[in-house]
Amino acid sequence: MKQISVVTGGSSGLGRAIASELIGKGINVCIVSRDAKKIKEAIAAFPKGQAEAIFYAGDVSDERFVIELFKNLNKDGYYVNYLYNVAGVGVFGKAKDMNLTKIQKAFQTNAIGLLLTTYESCRNMTDGGTIINIGSTASLKGNVEETLYCATKWAVRGFTEALKAEYKGKNIHFIGVYPGGMKTPFWTDDCGSNPDTSKWMEPSEVAEVVVNAVLEKKTLYVNDIVIERK
Ligand SMILES: NC(=O)c1ccc[n+]([C@@H]2O[C@H](COP(=O)([O-])OP(=O)(O)OC[C@H]3O[C@@H](n4cnc5c(N)ncnc54)[C@H](OP(=O)(O)O)[C@@H]3O)[C@@H](O)[C@H]2O)c1
Repeated sequence: MKQISVVTGGSSGLGRAIASELIGKGINVCIVSRDAKKIKEAIAAFPKGQAEAIFYAGDVSDERFVIELFKNLNKDGYYVNYLYNVAGVGVFGKAKDMNLTKIQKAFQTNAIGLLLTTYESCRNMTDGGTIINIGSTASLKGNVEETLYCATKWAVRGFTEALKAEYKGKNIHFIGVYPGGMKTPFWTDDCGSNPDTSKWMEPSEVAEVVVNAVLEKKTLYVNDIVIERK
């Protein structure tokens, strides 16, 4: 079996930067996000000839898609030894303006999708592996006009902590990554927030830190990663 790293949200922003960093290190990558055209554009820009870049277009909150994803990878001779859960959306605004539609949109990807890919990965990582869950500094504190986003990102942290407890001493390792603001397409016109991101962190710089920290070391492992912008 060939080893491969699955990167959800690998067509844009941090996920794309992580996938590119992995390819540059000769690590095979499978990108998982919804828009195939966006994925193909990302793959075209990756370093060439270093490793395989494949993709499955779909929604991480669709349980059938997630099960099929791992089944197909397995059938094609790939063993997922790293899962980078990066896919996420921003839904911001005052607490009084939140509603079920917004709650579902945010939890669907940031929490349900991340839980589904992680559980399926755990079932498939029979020879061990590492699962990296991208939260946010909004997983560590409460921010104004981020009640919903913080709720989803605290869910990521709680989930990751409980997994660490359940898998203690076993061969699947979990790492929570908590970055601050990055200059990515995450800040869409309809996300409910419009910050000036021009001086925020470059996703490529964050990706370099994350990938170097999580790749297997001889005598140590990294527990959590908090990356604050200057
Ligand atoms: N940007 C920041 O300031 C910041 C700060 C801290 C943490 N974060 C977190 O970092 C992660 C990456 O964010 P980013 O800034 O790189 O955002 P981004 O550029 O908007 O990328 C998000 C990625 O997730 C994919 N995606 C979204 N919903 C999906 C779904 N349901 N199923 C599959 N793929 C889905 C998107 O592709 P499709 O739309 O084609 O599916 C895209 O590839 C997120 O978890 C975010 O919460 C971001």
